[in-house]
Amino acid sequence: MVQFEPQMSDPMPGLTAGVADEHEQVVLCRDRRTGLRAFIAIHSTALGPALGGTRFRPYDSEEDALRDVLNLSRGMSYKAAMAGLPLGGGKAVILGDPRVQKSPALLRAYGRFVQSLAGRYYTACDVGTYSEDMDVIAEESRFVTGRTVGRGGAGDSSVLTAYGVFQGMRAAAEAVWGAPTLQGRTVGVAGVGKVGRHLVDLLVEGGASVVVSDVYEPALAAVALAHPDVRTLGDTGELVRQSLDVFAPCALGDALTDEVVASLRARVVCGAANNQLAHPGIEKQLAERGILYAPDYVVNAGGLIQVADELDGFDFQRARRRAGTILETTREVLAVAEETGVPPAVAADRMAEQRMATAGDGIWLP
Ligand SMILES: NC(=O)c1ccc[n+]([C@@H]2O[C@H](COP(=O)([O-])OP(=O)(O)OC[C@H]3O[C@@H](n4cnc5c(N)ncnc54)[C@H](O)[C@@H]3O)[C@@H](O)[C@H]2O)c1
Repeated sequence: MVQFEPQMSDPMPGLTAGVADEHEQVVLCRDRRTGLRAFIAIHSTALGPALGGTRFRPYDSEEDALRDVLNLSRGMSYKAAMAGLPLGGGKAVILGDPRVQKSPALLRAYGRFVQSLAGRYYTACDVGTYSEDMDVIAEESRFVTGRTVGRGGAGDSSVLTAYGVFQGMRAAAEAVWGAPTLQGRTVGVAGVGKVGRHLVDLLVEGGASVVVSDVYEPALAAVALAHPDVRTLGDTGELVRQSLDVFAPCALGDALTDEVVASLRARVVCGAANNQLAHPGIEKQLAERGILYAPDYVVNAGGLIQVADELDGFDFQRARRRAGTILETTREVLAVAEETGVPPAVAADRMAEQRMATAGDGIWLP
Protein backbone atom coordinates (compact mmCIF):
# COMPACT_ATOMS: atom_id res chain seq x y z
CA MET A 1 0.00 0.00 0.00
CA VAL A 2 1.45 3.33 -1.01
CA GLN A 3 1.50 5.74 1.88
CA PHE A 4 0.58 9.18 0.76
CA GLU A 5 1.33 12.12 2.94
CA PRO A 6 -0.68 15.17 1.96
CA GLN A 7 1.24 18.41 1.96
CA MET A 8 -0.85 20.97 3.82
CA SER A 9 1.30 24.03 3.39
CA ASP A 10 2.80 25.46 0.22
CA PRO A 11 6.05 23.46 -0.10
CA MET A 12 7.63 25.90 -2.52
CA PRO A 13 6.76 29.45 -1.62
CA GLY A 14 7.58 31.70 -4.54
CA LEU A 15 6.99 29.08 -7.20
CA THR A 16 3.21 29.29 -7.04
CA ALA A 17 3.57 32.71 -8.60
CA GLY A 18 4.97 32.98 -12.11
CA VAL A 19 5.41 29.78 -14.10
CA ALA A 20 3.31 27.62 -11.75
CA ASP A 21 0.36 29.94 -12.33
CA GLU A 22 -0.11 28.39 -15.75
CA HIS A 23 -0.45 24.79 -14.61
CA GLU A 24 -3.70 22.90 -14.15
CA GLN A 25 -2.49 20.41 -11.58
CA VAL A 26 0.73 19.56 -9.78
CA VAL A 27 0.99 16.46 -7.63
CA LEU A 28 3.61 15.74 -4.98
CA CYS A 29 4.05 11.98 -4.64
CA ARG A 30 5.76 10.44 -1.64
CA ASP A 31 6.06 6.86 -0.49
CA ARG A 32 8.08 6.37 2.68
CA ARG A 33 8.38 2.60 2.22
CA THR A 34 10.28 2.79 -1.08
CA GLY A 35 11.75 6.28 -0.68
CA LEU A 36 9.82 7.60 -3.69
CA ARG A 37 9.70 11.36 -4.04
CA ALA A 38 8.23 12.65 -7.28
CA PHE A 39 6.29 15.47 -8.86
CA ILE A 40 3.76 15.03 -11.63
CA ALA A 41 2.86 18.27 -13.37
CA ILE A 42 -0.07 18.64 -15.74
CA HIS A 43 0.33 21.91 -17.60
CA SER A 44 -2.71 21.75 -19.84
CA THR A 45 -5.34 19.23 -20.88
CA ALA A 46 -7.09 21.66 -23.22
CA LEU A 47 -6.37 19.40 -26.20
CA GLY A 48 -6.62 16.02 -24.43
CA PRO A 49 -4.97 13.96 -21.70
CA ALA A 50 -1.48 15.11 -20.76
CA LEU A 51 1.41 13.02 -22.08
CA GLY A 52 5.05 13.37 -21.14
CA GLY A 53 7.95 11.30 -19.87
CA THR A 54 9.24 10.61 -16.39
CA ARG A 55 12.67 12.06 -15.69
CA PHE A 56 14.65 10.30 -12.94
CA ARG A 57 17.66 12.24 -11.75
CA PRO A 58 19.30 13.65 -8.64
CA TYR A 59 18.20 17.25 -8.17
CA ASP A 60 19.95 19.67 -5.84
CA SER A 61 16.65 20.45 -4.14
CA GLU A 62 12.89 19.87 -4.35
CA GLU A 63 12.63 23.40 -5.64
CA ASP A 64 14.93 22.55 -8.60
CA ALA A 65 12.91 19.43 -9.34
CA LEU A 66 9.66 21.35 -9.23
CA ARG A 67 11.00 24.07 -11.48
CA ASP A 68 12.17 21.43 -13.97
CA VAL A 69 8.86 19.57 -14.05
CA LEU A 70 6.90 22.80 -14.47
CA ASN A 71 9.05 23.91 -17.40
CA LEU A 72 9.14 20.48 -19.03
CA SER A 73 5.37 19.93 -18.76
CA ARG A 74 4.71 23.34 -20.27
CA GLY A 75 7.00 22.44 -23.17
CA MET A 76 5.03 19.23 -23.75
CA SER A 77 1.77 21.17 -24.15
CA TYR A 78 3.35 23.30 -26.85
CA LYS A 79 4.96 20.30 -28.54
CA ALA A 80 1.72 18.30 -28.65
CA ALA A 81 -0.24 21.32 -29.88
CA MET A 82 2.20 21.95 -32.72
CA ALA A 83 2.35 18.25 -33.62
CA GLY A 84 -1.43 18.34 -34.09
CA LEU A 85 -1.97 15.65 -31.46
CA PRO A 86 -5.15 15.40 -29.35
CA LEU A 87 -3.00 15.52 -26.24
CA GLY A 88 -2.11 17.93 -23.48
CA GLY A 89 1.20 18.52 -21.77
CA GLY A 90 2.49 16.81 -18.66
CA LYS A 91 5.74 15.57 -17.25
CA ALA A 92 7.01 13.87 -14.10
CA VAL A 93 10.26 13.89 -12.20
CA ILE A 94 11.45 11.33 -9.70
CA LEU A 95 14.06 12.76 -7.35
CA GLY A 96 17.16 10.63 -6.81
CA ASP A 97 19.99 8.82 -8.51
CA PRO A 98 18.40 6.18 -10.76
CA ARG A 99 21.53 4.01 -10.59
CA VAL A 100 21.19 3.76 -6.81
CA GLN A 101 17.54 4.38 -5.99
CA LYS A 102 15.61 2.86 -8.86
CA SER A 103 13.88 -0.36 -7.81
CA PRO A 104 10.82 -2.26 -9.05
CA ALA A 105 9.03 -1.42 -5.77
CA LEU A 106 9.72 2.30 -6.18
CA LEU A 107 8.57 2.27 -9.82
CA ARG A 108 5.42 0.40 -8.85
CA ALA A 109 4.68 2.95 -6.10
CA TYR A 110 5.14 5.67 -8.70
CA GLY A 111 2.83 3.74 -11.06
CA ARG A 112 0.08 3.89 -8.43
CA PHE A 113 0.32 7.66 -8.38
CA VAL A 114 0.10 7.75 -12.18
CA GLN A 115 -2.96 5.48 -11.97
CA SER A 116 -4.50 7.76 -9.33
CA LEU A 117 -4.78 10.49 -11.98
CA ALA A 118 -7.20 8.23 -13.84
CA GLY A 119 -5.85 8.92 -17.33
CA ARG A 120 -5.42 12.68 -17.07
CA TYR A 121 -1.66 11.98 -17.31
CA TYR A 122 0.10 9.35 -19.44
CA THR A 123 3.74 8.69 -18.70
CA ALA A 124 6.65 7.58 -20.93
CA CYS A 125 10.47 7.45 -20.90
CA ASP A 126 12.77 10.40 -20.37
CA VAL A 127 16.30 10.96 -19.05
CA GLY A 128 16.98 8.18 -16.50
CA THR A 129 14.03 5.96 -17.43
CA TYR A 130 13.75 3.25 -20.07
CA SER A 131 11.09 1.12 -21.76
CA GLU A 132 11.80 -1.67 -19.27
CA ASP A 133 10.91 0.75 -16.44
CA MET A 134 7.64 1.58 -18.22
CA ASP A 135 6.78 -2.13 -18.19
CA VAL A 136 7.19 -2.13 -14.39
CA ILE A 137 5.14 1.06 -13.95
CA ALA A 138 2.47 -0.53 -16.15
CA GLU A 139 2.02 -3.28 -13.55
CA GLU A 140 0.20 -0.61 -11.53
CA SER A 141 -1.13 1.78 -14.15
CA ARG A 142 -2.92 1.60 -17.48
CA PHE A 143 -1.68 5.04 -18.43
CA VAL A 144 1.81 4.19 -19.63
CA THR A 145 3.37 4.34 -23.09
CA GLY A 146 6.93 4.01 -24.44
CA ARG A 147 6.89 0.32 -23.51
CA THR A 148 9.17 -2.45 -24.75
CA VAL A 149 8.47 -4.03 -28.12
CA GLY A 150 7.81 -7.35 -26.34
CA ARG A 151 4.96 -5.68 -24.44
CA GLY A 152 3.39 -4.06 -27.50
CA GLY A 153 5.42 -0.90 -27.22
CA ALA A 154 7.11 1.11 -29.92
CA GLY A 155 10.66 0.80 -28.57
CA ASP A 156 13.33 3.41 -29.23
CA SER A 157 11.77 6.78 -30.12
CA SER A 158 15.02 8.28 -31.41
CA VAL A 159 14.50 6.93 -34.95
CA LEU A 160 11.39 9.03 -35.55
CA THR A 161 12.77 11.96 -33.57
CA ALA A 162 15.72 12.09 -35.98
CA TYR A 163 13.39 11.67 -38.95
CA GLY A 164 11.27 14.62 -37.78
CA VAL A 165 14.34 16.81 -37.21
CA PHE A 166 15.50 15.98 -40.73
CA GLN A 167 12.10 17.07 -42.12
CA GLY A 168 12.27 20.32 -40.11
CA MET A 169 15.77 20.90 -41.48
CA ARG A 170 14.50 20.43 -45.06
CA ALA A 171 11.86 23.12 -44.43
CA ALA A 172 14.50 25.47 -43.01
CA ALA A 173 16.80 24.80 -45.99
CA GLU A 174 13.93 25.63 -48.33
CA ALA A 175 13.29 28.94 -46.53
CA VAL A 176 16.97 29.93 -46.76
CA TRP A 177 18.23 28.40 -50.01
CA GLY A 178 14.98 27.83 -51.95
CA ALA A 179 14.84 24.00 -52.05
CA PRO A 180 13.91 21.44 -49.34
CA THR A 181 17.17 19.53 -49.50
CA LEU A 182 20.44 19.27 -47.61
CA GLN A 183 22.28 18.03 -50.68
CA GLY A 184 25.70 19.67 -50.81
CA ARG A 185 25.28 21.50 -47.47
CA THR A 186 27.66 21.18 -44.56
CA VAL A 187 25.84 20.20 -41.39
CA GLY A 188 27.39 20.14 -37.91
CA VAL A 189 25.72 17.75 -35.47
CA ALA A 190 26.56 18.38 -31.80
CA GLY A 191 25.91 15.19 -29.85
CA VAL A 192 25.78 11.84 -31.60
CA GLY A 193 23.85 9.81 -29.07
CA LYS A 194 20.65 8.01 -29.96
CA VAL A 195 19.06 10.81 -32.02
CA GLY A 196 22.22 12.44 -33.40
CA ARG A 197 23.49 9.16 -34.79
CA HIS A 198 20.27 8.52 -36.74
CA LEU A 199 20.27 12.11 -37.95
CA VAL A 200 23.80 11.64 -39.34
CA ASP A 201 22.56 8.58 -41.29
CA LEU A 202 19.76 10.64 -42.87
CA LEU A 203 22.05 13.56 -43.67
CA VAL A 204 24.69 11.38 -45.32
CA GLU A 205 21.98 9.60 -47.29
CA GLY A 206 20.61 13.02 -48.31
CA GLY A 207 23.97 14.11 -49.76
CA ALA A 208 25.11 16.46 -46.98
CA SER A 209 28.66 16.80 -45.82
CA VAL A 210 28.62 16.13 -42.06
CA VAL A 211 30.85 17.13 -39.13
CA VAL A 212 30.01 15.91 -35.63
CA SER A 213 31.08 16.56 -32.07
CA ASP A 214 30.59 14.62 -28.86
CA VAL A 215 32.22 14.51 -25.44
CA TYR A 216 32.00 10.72 -25.40
CA GLU A 217 34.70 9.07 -27.50
CA PRO A 218 32.78 5.79 -28.16
CA ALA A 219 29.91 7.84 -29.67
CA LEU A 220 32.35 9.48 -32.11
CA ALA A 221 33.96 6.12 -32.88
CA ALA A 222 30.57 4.61 -33.75
CA VAL A 223 29.88 7.41 -36.26
CA ALA A 224 33.36 7.14 -37.76
CA LEU A 225 32.87 3.41 -38.22
CA ALA A 226 29.48 3.81 -39.93
CA HIS A 227 30.54 6.83 -42.02
CA PRO A 228 34.31 7.12 -42.61
CA ASP A 229 33.78 10.43 -44.47
CA VAL A 230 32.21 12.18 -41.51
CA ARG A 231 34.64 14.41 -39.58
CA THR A 232 34.59 13.97 -35.81
CA LEU A 233 35.53 16.56 -33.18
CA GLY A 234 35.80 16.24 -29.42
CA ASP A 235 34.81 19.84 -28.77
CA THR A 236 31.45 21.41 -29.61
CA GLY A 237 32.96 24.92 -29.35
CA GLU A 238 35.21 24.00 -32.26
CA LEU A 239 32.26 22.60 -34.22
CA VAL A 240 30.33 25.86 -33.79
CA ARG A 241 33.24 27.84 -35.25
CA GLN A 242 33.46 25.64 -38.37
CA SER A 243 32.20 26.88 -41.70
CA LEU A 244 28.78 25.24 -41.45
CA ASP A 245 25.53 25.77 -43.32
CA VAL A 246 23.44 24.13 -40.60
CA PHE A 247 24.10 23.62 -36.89
CA ALA A 248 22.12 20.78 -35.26
CA PRO A 249 22.23 20.73 -31.43
CA CYS A 250 21.46 17.13 -30.45
CA ALA A 251 23.03 16.92 -26.98
CA LEU A 252 21.71 18.79 -23.94
CA GLY A 253 19.52 21.85 -23.43
CA ASP A 254 20.79 25.45 -23.33
CA ALA A 255 22.96 24.81 -26.41
CA LEU A 256 22.37 28.30 -27.80
CA THR A 257 24.14 30.66 -25.41
CA ASP A 258 25.27 34.25 -26.13
CA GLU A 259 28.77 32.93 -26.89
CA VAL A 260 27.56 30.20 -29.24
CA VAL A 261 25.29 32.58 -31.14
CA ALA A 262 28.12 35.13 -31.45
CA SER A 263 30.55 32.61 -32.94
CA LEU A 264 28.12 30.59 -35.04
CA ARG A 265 28.72 30.74 -38.81
CA ALA A 266 25.77 28.59 -39.87
CA ARG A 267 22.67 30.08 -41.54
CA VAL A 268 20.29 27.54 -39.99
CA VAL A 269 19.95 26.03 -36.51
CA CYS A 270 17.80 22.92 -36.36
CA GLY A 271 18.35 20.07 -33.92
CA ALA A 272 16.79 17.56 -31.55
CA ALA A 273 17.77 18.92 -28.14
CA ASN A 274 14.99 20.23 -25.92
CA ASN A 275 15.09 23.81 -24.61
CA GLN A 276 17.93 24.95 -26.88
CA LEU A 277 17.54 28.68 -26.20
CA ALA A 278 19.64 29.36 -23.09
CA HIS A 279 17.59 32.41 -22.10
CA PRO A 280 14.76 34.58 -23.43
CA GLY A 281 16.07 36.96 -26.07
CA ILE A 282 18.43 34.46 -27.74
CA GLU A 283 15.84 33.97 -30.50
CA LYS A 284 16.17 37.69 -31.32
CA GLN A 285 19.97 37.53 -31.34
CA LEU A 286 19.79 34.66 -33.82
CA ALA A 287 17.42 36.59 -36.06
CA GLU A 288 19.62 39.69 -35.90
CA ARG A 289 22.59 37.64 -37.05
CA GLY A 290 20.54 36.32 -39.98
CA ILE A 291 20.41 32.79 -38.55
CA LEU A 292 17.15 30.93 -39.07
CA TYR A 293 16.20 28.96 -35.96
CA ALA A 294 13.75 26.10 -36.43
CA PRO A 295 12.02 25.88 -33.01
CA ASP A 296 13.15 22.81 -31.05
CA TYR A 297 9.76 21.54 -29.94
CA VAL A 298 8.36 21.82 -33.47
CA VAL A 299 11.11 19.75 -35.12
CA ASN A 300 11.78 17.23 -32.32
CA ALA A 301 8.18 16.05 -31.92
CA GLY A 302 8.81 12.73 -33.73
CA GLY A 303 9.40 10.88 -30.44
CA LEU A 304 6.17 12.22 -28.98
CA ILE A 305 4.33 11.26 -32.16
CA GLN A 306 5.73 7.75 -31.78
CA VAL A 307 4.68 7.24 -28.14
CA ALA A 308 1.29 8.80 -28.90
CA ASP A 309 0.82 6.34 -31.76
CA GLU A 310 1.44 3.51 -29.32
CA LEU A 311 -1.76 4.49 -27.49
CA ASP A 312 -3.69 3.29 -30.58
CA GLY A 313 -1.61 0.11 -31.01
CA PHE A 314 1.73 0.95 -32.55
CA ASP A 315 2.06 1.06 -36.32
CA PHE A 316 5.52 2.23 -37.42
CA GLN A 317 4.49 3.30 -40.93
CA ARG A 318 1.56 5.36 -39.61
CA ALA A 319 3.81 7.00 -36.99
CA ARG A 320 6.46 7.72 -39.64
CA ARG A 321 3.84 9.35 -41.88
CA ARG A 322 2.71 11.50 -38.96
CA ALA A 323 6.31 12.46 -38.14
CA GLY A 324 6.69 13.42 -41.80
CA THR A 325 4.14 16.23 -41.28
CA ILE A 326 6.86 18.08 -39.35
CA LEU A 327 8.05 19.29 -42.77
CA GLU A 328 4.76 21.09 -43.40
CA THR A 329 4.41 22.32 -39.80
CA THR A 330 7.89 23.85 -39.86
CA ARG A 331 7.10 25.50 -43.19
CA GLU A 332 3.95 27.00 -41.63
CA VAL A 333 5.84 28.31 -38.58
CA LEU A 334 8.53 29.90 -40.75
CA ALA A 335 5.90 31.45 -43.01
CA VAL A 336 3.98 32.94 -40.06
CA ALA A 337 7.26 34.26 -38.63
CA GLU A 338 8.08 35.91 -41.95
CA GLU A 339 4.58 37.39 -42.36
CA THR A 340 4.33 38.74 -38.83
CA GLY A 341 7.95 39.87 -38.52
CA VAL A 342 8.75 37.85 -35.38
CA PRO A 343 11.41 35.16 -34.79
CA PRO A 344 10.19 31.60 -35.54
CA ALA A 345 10.30 30.69 -31.83
CA VAL A 346 7.79 33.45 -31.08
CA ALA A 347 5.60 32.46 -34.03
CA ALA A 348 5.51 28.82 -32.85
CA ASP A 349 4.59 29.83 -29.29
CA ARG A 350 1.74 31.99 -30.56
CA MET A 351 0.42 29.26 -32.86
CA ALA A 352 0.50 26.67 -30.06
CA GLU A 353 -1.18 29.04 -27.60
CA GLN A 354 -3.91 29.80 -30.09
CA ARG A 355 -4.57 26.09 -30.65
CA MET A 356 -4.90 25.52 -26.91
CA ALA A 357 -7.04 28.61 -26.34
CA THR A 358 -9.57 27.67 -29.01
CA ALA A 359 -9.84 24.01 -28.00
CA GLY A 360 -12.66 24.18 -25.48
CA ASP A 361 -12.78 24.53 -21.75
CA GLY A 362 -9.81 22.42 -20.70
CA ILE A 363 -9.71 20.17 -17.59
CA TRP A 364 -9.92 16.96 -19.58
CA LEU A 365 -11.67 14.03 -17.92
CA PRO A 366 -11.56 10.40 -19.08
N1 LIG B 1 15.34 10.41 -27.76
C1 LIG B 1 14.30 11.08 -28.20
O1 LIG B 1 13.38 10.48 -28.78
C2 LIG B 1 14.20 12.55 -28.04
C3 LIG B 1 12.99 13.21 -28.36
C4 LIG B 1 12.92 14.60 -28.27
C5 LIG B 1 14.03 15.31 -27.83
N2 LIG B 1 15.19 14.64 -27.49
C6 LIG B 1 16.32 15.44 -27.03
O2 LIG B 1 17.41 15.26 -27.93
C7 LIG B 1 18.65 15.31 -27.24
C8 LIG B 1 19.46 14.05 -27.50
O3 LIG B 1 18.70 12.94 -27.06
P1 LIG B 1 19.30 11.45 -27.14
O4 LIG B 1 18.15 10.55 -26.84
O5 LIG B 1 20.06 11.30 -28.40
O6 LIG B 1 20.28 11.48 -25.90
P2 LIG B 1 21.64 10.62 -25.71
O7 LIG B 1 21.93 10.72 -24.25
O8 LIG B 1 21.53 9.30 -26.35
O9 LIG B 1 22.73 11.45 -26.56
C9 LIG B 1 23.26 12.66 -26.16
C10 LIG B 1 24.71 12.70 -26.65
O10 LIG B 1 25.21 14.02 -26.42
C11 LIG B 1 26.54 13.88 -25.96
N3 LIG B 1 26.93 15.14 -25.30
C12 LIG B 1 26.73 15.54 -24.02
N4 LIG B 1 27.24 16.77 -23.83
C13 LIG B 1 27.78 17.15 -25.02
C14 LIG B 1 28.45 18.31 -25.47
N5 LIG B 1 28.67 19.34 -24.65
N6 LIG B 1 28.85 18.36 -26.76
C15 LIG B 1 28.63 17.32 -27.61
N7 LIG B 1 28.01 16.20 -27.23
C16 LIG B 1 27.58 16.11 -25.95
C17 LIG B 1 26.54 12.66 -25.10
O11 LIG B 1 27.85 12.14 -24.93
C18 LIG B 1 25.62 11.73 -25.92
O12 LIG B 1 26.39 10.97 -26.85
C19 LIG B 1 18.28 15.53 -25.77
O13 LIG B 1 18.31 16.92 -25.49
C20 LIG B 1 16.85 15.02 -25.67
O14 LIG B 1 16.14 15.67 -24.63
C21 LIG B 1 15.30 13.30 -27.59
